[in-house]
Amino acid sequence: MCCSREVFFFCFILLYPVALTFAQKDPYVCSKNGNYTSNSTYRANLNSLLASMSSNTEIDYGFYKFSAGEYPDKVNAIALCRGDISTEECRSCINGSSNDLLRYCPNQKEAIIWYKKCMVRYSNKLIFGVMEDNPLLAYYNVQNVSDVEGFNQVLRPLLDRLRNHAASGNSTHKFAAGSAAAPDFQTIYALLMCTPDLDKLECSNCLSWAIRFIPQCCDGKQGGRYMAPSCELRYEIYAFYDPAAEEALPPSPLPSPPPSLPSVPLLPPKEGMLLPMSMTCNISWMVKLVDSLFFQNTLQDYESRVHENH
Ligand SMILES: *[C@@H]1O[C@H](CO)[C@@H](O)[C@H](O)[C@H]1NC(C)=O
Ligand SMILES: *[C@@H]1O[C@H](CO)[C@@H](O)[C@H](O)[C@H]1NC(C)=O
Ligand SMILES: *[C@@H]1O[C@H](CO)[C@@H](O)[C@H](O)[C@H]1NC(C)=O
Ligand SMILES: *[C@@H]1O[C@H](CO)[C@@H](O)[C@H](O)[C@H]1NC(C)=O
Ligand SMILES: *[C@@H]1O[C@H](CO)[C@@H](O)[C@H](O)[C@H]1NC(C)=O
Ligand SMILES: *[C@@H]1O[C@H](CO)[C@@H](O)[C@H](O)[C@H]1NC(C)=O
Repeated sequence: MCCSREVFFFCFILLYPVALTFAQKDPYVCSKNGNYTSNSTYRANLNSLLASMSSNTEIDYGFYKFSAGEYPDKVNAIALCRGDISTEECRSCINGSSNDLLRYCPNQKEAIIWYKKCMVRYSNKLIFGVMEDNPLLAYYNVQNVSDVEGFNQVLRPLLDRLRNHAASGNSTHKFAAGSAAAPDFQTIYALLMCTPDLDKLECSNCLSWAIRFIPQCCDGKQGGRYMAPSCELRYEIYAFYDPAAEEALPPSPLPSPPPSLPSVPLLPPKEGMLLPMSMTCNISWMVKLVDSLFFQNTLQDYESRVHENH
């Protein structure tokens, strides 16, 4: 499934030397699955489609699934906002991310961008109700937790419970946020979501796939974001979402704390941009990293990994 880290890193540098010089960017992916020209009908359809999503005032649940045009110029698009933001914030997030995506992928028929609070994706292919967990991008906070085992004993059940909650949602809402007490007086906050056009099993599978990547990618890190076209998860040791969106979860029993080591002073929460550290050499997608309003700190704070073609 994976080459060595060195091979991946080399592979990335070889193909996308420029990407490494960017700092503080949002992740996006331009697919190699077909191009259009700027004066084409496809682009005109795409423009009107994206505009109709960000200006739509009827949908108030943060999920937009629209099409425009006729084959072969038909464009399908999905926009999904995080379940804890307002309709206004959602619209403005979709507007911003759509505009960025058109700039970053100026002639690709298929593309996706993940802002911190919304995701926008379009394609000439049918994407509605189809689970897509590839590519999976991972960003993680390079700060380590001091008690890895204790941390994981809280994180895993929290993610599993939230995965079930999110997957059990309805056709407009597959989202769950929640927190649990962790060792060293910390709290883990997590947020999981799927595009709600998936069924329960597909949502659960997509999130499970992302969760399974955590130990491979980023065990013992204080935070991480895992993004696939159909689902997304994030956890941190600080509250990064609106607590009002937390679902009532049964209280999680804290595992009996191990004899405590002298605790390491906590650094303030940091997010940052990440260097792509790994990526398969079988690339069907072009991956670049672009400006982020969200990963605001330095290159040292976050790193990223890309997982493809599992
Ligand atoms: C699409 O455009 C990219 C560059 O913009 C180019 O590298 C690629 O070969 C093109 N693909 C096709 C199928 O024309
Ligand atoms: C788009 O522009 C190119 C040259 O700029 C031209 O050759 C082509 O016919 C145009 N296509 C359409 C659909 O107008
Ligand atoms: C969308 O973004 C564009 C460019 O940033 C801006 O000019 C426009 O006013 C925005 N529209 C809405 C509805 O926010
Ligand atoms: C986290 O742990 C890894 C491996 O033990 C180490 O290489 C890295 O420097 C640590 N990161 C920080 C920020 O302490
Ligand atoms: C879907 O679930 C959300 C959150 O539980 C709820 O607010 C909404 O009314 C539900 N929508 C439908 C169509 O059942
Ligand atoms: C690369 O990925 C494609 C599509 O997933 C697959 O068909 C192909 O066999 C892969 N090639 C290699 C060398 O793994």
